[in-house]
Amino acid sequence: MSAVLKIRSLNKSFGGIKATDDLTLSVEQGELHAIIGPNGAGKTTLISQLSGMQTPDSGAIRFRGRDITRMAAHKRAHLGITRSFQITSLIMQMSVLDNIALAVQAGEGHSFRFVRAARRVAALRDRAMALLERVGLADKADFPTVALSHGEHRHMEIAIALASNAELMLLDEPMAGLGTEESAQMVELLRGIKGQQSILLIEHDMDAVFALADRISVLVYGHIIATGTPGEIRSNEAVQHAYLGEE
Ligand SMILES: Nc1ncnc2c1ncn2[C@@H]1O[C@H](COP(=O)(O)OP(=O)(O)O)[C@@H](O)[C@H]1O
Ligand SMILES: [Mg+2]
Repeated sequence: MSAVLKIRSLNKSFGGIKATDDLTLSVEQGELHAIIGPNGAGKTTLISQLSGMQTPDSGAIRFRGRDITRMAAHKRAHLGITRSFQITSLIMQMSVLDNIALAVQAGEGHSFRFVRAARRVAALRDRAMALLERVGLADKADFPTVALSHGEHRHMEIAIALASNAELMLLDEPMAGLGTEESAQMVELLRGIKGQQSILLIEHDMDAVFALADRISVLVYGHIIATGTPGEIRSNEAVQHAYLGEE
């Protein structure tokens, strides 16, 4: 196995609060690695440092062997890291298809530059349509985005993340605000994507995490207290004490 992402001794404080405390973690190629931890544990702060929205105080982040610790967010996106949820990228007045086509276009970069406009639009729409089929929204392609449900918006976010062809997807609570049925659909969708991209998943829904993750890391006060398979984490006493026991 080879690690796509390596985080070593990462630290980030806000005033007196250590939001990230000597955090070391790796994500292997094709792995779905979940991070769980109570509210305020530092999950979002970690994702923000990985996507480049926040700068660590110290420590190192390497992506495919390259040091990206202080790299600008747009450069990381170019290298193949995409972040979804908590920040929405949907344009509500545009059609569902156009939203995805826009993301496809952004992900293709310059590769369509020499193609004639009409063919280019057709190619973008074809790819966008294929992505909508993958996330189960093909029949809603021509709907205005605003008309879709919250759960469907989340499926659109996954399509947008896939459009970028990113090697590493950072998913910050994809199940947040979803009902039982919608959560189950999201689990199925992520199960289908799994293995193609590497995924770092932050999620409160324990059923989803234990159903999907190859490995789970447990974050408490900014520090990872355990990493292991779902079975190992379930039977880890420190974890039960610090977190699972609260449920
Ligand atoms: N921009 C910020 N300024 C001050 N404190 C922050 C900021 N962002 C996060 N924190 C604090 O850092 C800790 C971790 O927050 P966060 O990463 O949002 O946790 P989680 O996503 O696990 O709920 C919390 O104590 C939070 O209050
Ligand atoms: Mg959070």
